[in-house]
Amino acid sequence: MLGVIPVRRWFAYLWGMSHRSESGFEFDPVYEPLDGFDPAAKLGEPGQFPYTRGVYPTMYTQRPWTMRQYAGFGTAAESNQRYHQLIDHGTMGLSVAFDLPTQMGYDSDATIASGEVGKVGVAIDSIDDMRVLFDKIPLDQVSTSMTINAPGSVLLLLYQLVAEEQGVSADKLTGTIQNDVLKEYIARGTYIYPPKESLRLISDIFAYCQAELPRWNTISISGYHMAEAGATPAQEIAFTLANGIEYVRAAVASGLDVDEFAPRLSFFFVARTTLLEEVAKFRAARRIWSRVMRDSFGAKNPKSLMLRFHTQTAGVQLTAQQPEVNLVRVAIQGLAAVLGGTQSLHTNSYDEAIALPTEKAARLALRTQQVLAYETDITATVDPFAGSYVVESLTDEVEAAAVELMDQVEEYGGAVAAIEKGFQKQEIERSAYQIAQEIDSVERVVVGMNKFKIAEEEPYEPLRVDPTIEAQQTARLADLRATRDQSAVDEALAALKKAAQGNDNCLYPMKAALKARATVGEVCDTLREVWGTYVPADTF
Ligand code: 3HC
Repeated sequence: MLGVIPVRRWFAYLWGMSHRSESGFEFDPVYEPLDGFDPAAKLGEPGQFPYTRGVYPTMYTQRPWTMRQYAGFGTAAESNQRYHQLIDHGTMGLSVAFDLPTQMGYDSDATIASGEVGKVGVAIDSIDDMRVLFDKIPLDQVSTSMTINAPGSVLLLLYQLVAEEQGVSADKLTGTIQNDVLKEYIARGTYIYPPKESLRLISDIFAYCQAELPRWNTISISGYHMAEAGATPAQEIAFTLANGIEYVRAAVASGLDVDEFAPRLSFFFVARTTLLEEVAKFRAARRIWSRVMRDSFGAKNPKSLMLRFHTQTAGVQLTAQQPEVNLVRVAIQGLAAVLGGTQSLHTNSYDEAIALPTEKAARLALRTQQVLAYETDITATVDPFAGSYVVESLTDEVEAAAVELMDQVEEYGGAVAAIEKGFQKQEIERSAYQIAQEIDSVERVVVGMNKFKIAEEEPYEPLRVDPTIEAQQTARLADLRATRDQSAVDEALAALKKAAQGNDNCLYPMKAALKARATVGEVCDTLREVWGTYVPADTF
């Protein structure tokens, strides 16, 4: 055994100098060239299979990644103001945060919505609110991401309806809906319908976008939230890609051609401060996905094989203590995402561990990206870590660990079957518990929080959301219901119900209902009546 593992690794280990990576590997104190490393076979050229070095041949040498700051709170008018501020500060894409009632498919005046209206995102109840949200924002000139899952179809159609009112044709619309309900069952919780019906609705969205919105990214298969819940880098990409495989299987089973819908799949990962392993994680994820799509699904269109992704810096690593230190963390995390080849990036604001970001904090977060893009040399060349002894070794290790976990998910029968057994959740909770223990023992240093603390925290003035938001939204809904053509709404919702009971694509009657000013809650309730709601298997 001693002979197999380099002596220096044993030496480091015995003398307590070894470092364990987030995914659990031991770092070598010194890396040497990998035996038989063939860059051409192992990495591929940038923009070529297996895309280890990036999805585009030129990556950032032509244009930086999309600086896309997640934002939204209060009323549509307040969020619209923040979007105009971000555009003025140079953001390159929008990213809408919705409040929990909207994310759960409830109207602001629903009993269950009380206390949450406009809190963690913007309250959107109808086409009237969506029109205000994008007031004076030309939807043919901006790409918009919407973090919306179970009601993803509803918000997508509201966006398309507002674009139609602006005179923007559907084939010009670019953006993304998160639409990834499987990770909601695992880690985030904003699910509504059972898995089978959720996968049906997601396949309906794929088919609808293929026909009506050809440039729209239909899903953002997310590892971010599983990482924030405690997943290691290997678990993050393994469970995300396993969810991706489930979506592709469902879409193919619904009759769609893989090379038609797969180019519009996208992904979403976290970027931690552990930069070397994060760069390796992104490179491993691209390589695994391209092989899965080619070998398991027979995809031939190069765009079907590319794992394009958005990254958000790790919110869970932000501290409320000495919050300015978060500026340093976010800069390192953003650097990791860019060195790893992200297509789009959100950098967290330094004050987000305390409250919704102030405008100044949001501006600083965007400036961090602008410094990375315009004051460093990391956009001058593609995949700067290519050939690095440590990063290539870590890429191989993360890839192997992730593939092993994906095989375990397959042994359950796929992601949905594994979810119903609680496999992913248990694995993530085990990792989360280990991290918590390491923080408590200070084995894992969190600067300012468990080490390098200060006696007196400086005062901080948080952003305050308008406390009358709930009353405002309730009044807007009363006015909407009093002034719309109720028979047109009833007829459209009846057509939606019929589609949900059968096999017709739900999005067409859904669009008619929303255009008649049916509310988000009414549309989602119509589907609840037919499909019921998901009840997690209580496996613990
Ligand atoms: N060479 C050639 N073409 C290039 C290029 C290059 N170097 N760089 C860019 N392009 C082209 C692309 O091909 C694309 O053209 P297309 O639209 O015709 O395909 C266009 O330029 C735009 O480039 P990208 O598609 O790479 O960048 P986008 O920013 O438009 O899209 C994405 C990125 C990852 C594919 C997309 O899905 C996206 O924007 N995702 C964002 C998701 C997001 O913001 N999520 C927020 C989550 S927050 C959350 O969950 C809540 C909380 O809990 C955390």
